[in-house]
Amino acid sequence: MTISFNFAGQHVFVFGGTTGINLGIAHAFAQHGANVTVASRKQENVDAAVAALSTHGAQVLGVTADVRDFDAVGRAFATAGERFGKIDVLVSGAAGNFLAEVNQLSSNGFKVVVDIDLNGTFHVMRQAFPHLASPGASVINITAPQSVIPIRYQAHVCAAKAGVDQLTRVLAIEWGSAGIRVNAISPGPIADTEGMRRLAPKDDTSGSPVQRLVPLGRLGTTADIANLAMFLASPAASFVSGAIIPCDGGGAIDSIKPMIEGAAKEQMTHPAG
Ligand code: HXC
Ligand code: NAP
Repeated sequence: MTISFNFAGQHVFVFGGTTGINLGIAHAFAQHGANVTVASRKQENVDAAVAALSTHGAQVLGVTADVRDFDAVGRAFATAGERFGKIDVLVSGAAGNFLAEVNQLSSNGFKVVVDIDLNGTFHVMRQAFPHLASPGASVINITAPQSVIPIRYQAHVCAAKAGVDQLTRVLAIEWGSAGIRVNAISPGPIADTEGMRRLAPKDDTSGSPVQRLVPLGRLGTTADIANLAMFLASPAASFVSGAIIPCDGGGAIDSIKPMIEGAAKEQMTHPAG
């Protein structure tokens, strides 16, 4: 069976799209003909992503912006709009994470993750709206299993990503009449990513014991997530909105929870529990 995607001439904007899973999504759209904008904080990440994405022959724009800075997010969309016009596909995936139990987490430590993951998603959504193709745009937020599974050492991320899920659902309602679909992808453990480097025991970042915890018996790849993103952006998903879709090999609760507890044993002197 062949599934083919064609995003020729479309403008795909990936916020937080310069490394890892989100960069994988940007690559997939660039490979399938889109004009791609990526944005993140660090100039070196932006430059490297633009160079890598340009190898597909796509037109690529890189913008430096922190999702915590509402005005900078607005400027990023204005710059991208001048270059490629209205946005057909918006992916919002900037995130921060580290292991810390609540009693060891400062007010600022909790705040920084909520500011990047949740408030940052709000900033991206709020500033993007005037730049979205209406009708027709597909918006994809990147959430995490922590949004529905309570996990030790992840209170900040659990709270923030639960908010991302609800923001996604509310926007699907509010923007539906503008012909804009809003969905979220919830990746499971994805090999060779920063999330895994921070949250998996060292030997497990690209396989070994964690993959045995995944019902499908392997870690995910950035291509697995990119394929779902392309489906959500395609006409095949034209009646899909307000959905939070796991892409996790079947049951993140079986794999993420013990994985993170294993990482905490390695990284923390006295992990709780
Ligand atoms: C306790 C910590 C901490 C740690 C930082 N803080 N790291 N507290 N344990 N390990 C506290 C600091 O002490 C400080 O509080 C506050 O957090 C802000 O820290 P800064 O370093 O000043 O923040 P900043 O430079 O803005 O960096 C943000 C960051 C950083 C989140 C802390 O790690 C980052 O930039 N991350 C982006 C990349 C990333 O995390 N990718 C993984 C995404 S994976 P005080 O009180 O001292 O001021 C993901 C889900 C994966 O999201 C799911 C896998 C299954
Ligand atoms: P990653 O490589 O660290 O990607 C995070 C991206 O966001 C980078 O491009 C980073 O670039 C950017 N970013 C971070 N903070 C930002 C800020 N304040 N403003 C703008 N950009 C910012 O992480 P990843 O592991 O691939 O995770 C990507 C997404 O998938 C996240 O939303 C994460 O929650 C989710 N997820 C990951 C996994 C996994 O297995 N890895 C599982 C479930 C969910 P700069 O540093 O240049 O800003």
